[in-house]
Amino acid sequence: MDLIPAPRAVEGPMRCGFLFDRDTTLWAAPGTDTTERWLRSTLGAALGLPLRPGPRDAPNSVQLQLDDALEPEAYGLDVVATRGVRIRGGDPAGVFWGAQTLRQLLGPEAFRRAPVRSGITRGIAHQSIEDGPRFRWRGLLLDVARHFMPKDGVLRYLDLMAAHKLNVFHFHLTDDQGWRIEIARHPRLTETGSWRTRTKFGHRASPLWEEKPHGGYYTQDDIREIVAYAAERHITVVPEIDVPGHSQAAIAAYPELGNTDVIDTTALSVLDDWGISTNVLAPTDNTLRFYEGVFEEVLDLFPSEFIHVGGDECPKDQWKRSPAAQARIKELGLADEDELQSWFIGHFAKWLSARGRRLIGWDEILEGGLPDGTAVSSWRGYQGGVAAARAGHDVVMCPQQQVYLDYRQAAGDDEPVPIGYVRTLEDVYRFEPVPPELDEPGIRHVLGTQANLWTEVMEDHARVDYQAFPRLAAFAEVAWSALPGPGERDFADFERRMAAHYGRLDALGVAYRPPAGPRPWQRRPGVLGRPIEGLPPNT
Ligand code: ACM
Repeated sequence: MDLIPAPRAVEGPMRCGFLFDRDTTLWAAPGTDTTERWLRSTLGAALGLPLRPGPRDAPNSVQLQLDDALEPEAYGLDVVATRGVRIRGGDPAGVFWGAQTLRQLLGPEAFRRAPVRSGITRGIAHQSIEDGPRFRWRGLLLDVARHFMPKDGVLRYLDLMAAHKLNVFHFHLTDDQGWRIEIARHPRLTETGSWRTRTKFGHRASPLWEEKPHGGYYTQDDIREIVAYAAERHITVVPEIDVPGHSQAAIAAYPELGNTDVIDTTALSVLDDWGISTNVLAPTDNTLRFYEGVFEEVLDLFPSEFIHVGGDECPKDQWKRSPAAQARIKELGLADEDELQSWFIGHFAKWLSARGRRLIGWDEILEGGLPDGTAVSSWRGYQGGVAAARAGHDVVMCPQQQVYLDYRQAAGDDEPVPIGYVRTLEDVYRFEPVPPELDEPGIRHVLGTQANLWTEVMEDHARVDYQAFPRLAAFAEVAWSALPGPGERDFADFERRMAAHYGRLDALGVAYRPPAGPRPWQRRPGVLGRPIEGLPPNT
């Protein structure tokens, strides 16, 4: 049956089956309305089926209902020849994930936006599926700061996530190279901060620049639409406002946010090169009040429990040289600049907690201590996640060595922009999110796992597709499907199922990396298509 991610248990399929036709009706119990809408708007549109409302237990119908006996997000799907399809969910999300499985059972045409043929039979074999997720956090980070992805592309990625039963969209909205969310009280964040004059093209060591302005941002209504579209698909959007590093775009817009006693911040512009800016936020009351204002608007837009504040890669050089930062360290009785960063993050942890939210940040926020209730995204490897979980913090495992999807997916010279560790489809498939050195209760602090798409080398959605797929399909199985038992996952079986999944990705219009390597148009010409001379591996 070739389902991806693999379900827990399947009985059947039998040779007989159920045939969808124009008379197939849809009955949706209370609590299943998101799936009812999705079935009509997406599956119905793909197959040209009206799925008219019908009574409970009608023959030739799709029946949706909640089932208290199932866990959150779990579902049961029963196909009975002549009667139809019944989906039971432990909660509304479970029903929705069941509908995603139904779509896969219907073949690649169910992944198109309109029917390509009329009068064909949409058959589905008699069978029973019981399924549910291994992890409650099955995330994808999309960096829209390095390259802006217009809103339609973001909505499309939410659809691609839903098709793979991923449920947390980590929206990386701000960085040195761009600020992408409208903040009404600080309009220059987008007026100035969302545009850069030129862009390094390809690898950061490449000599080529694209000499034209790059930018864009989401209005608050765009954000509301994205959040609502995600919620319809049982996806939570976790916004990231990266502080106190990765903030040059904000400082370019409001120079007083920077360390003005060290450099002339009025001369700064949005960073046009890749890499980490040394221009970081000044640890002043003015900065705190400014970002409290930013976060107030962010909380109004995003209902998620977790708010991501970044906290990664904050160079401390300016704080070391700044008399004002040094005075702050003294006044607060702190030991050093690491503790100053901790104080900064701690301020927002308390501020968010007072508003019923929880702070999450990259694993650097562990350095210098971290308040209770905060969570950590472990990206520099497993160690941050292990230390955080042992200290009682919830963690999301996204180690760069394993699940940074901007990293090259094959050795050799063929990858379009060959950066980072080689992470093949099989490597991602064999990734185990729970660190082996953790035992209970640490294991219970692993909320789940996340794949990260940083977009320095991805200037449009075809490039994002190329880096994301097919590896995101393997990642989805890691995040959703329980380990088949002691030992390793069966990659040969996954590859066999992928043969069918490529057909679904084709129907969805995903520009994935083919198993045989990039298509000619997916390669890069000249220096961009090869490792840069003199550069160490894994950079
Ligand atoms: C990161 O990759 N700097 C979180």
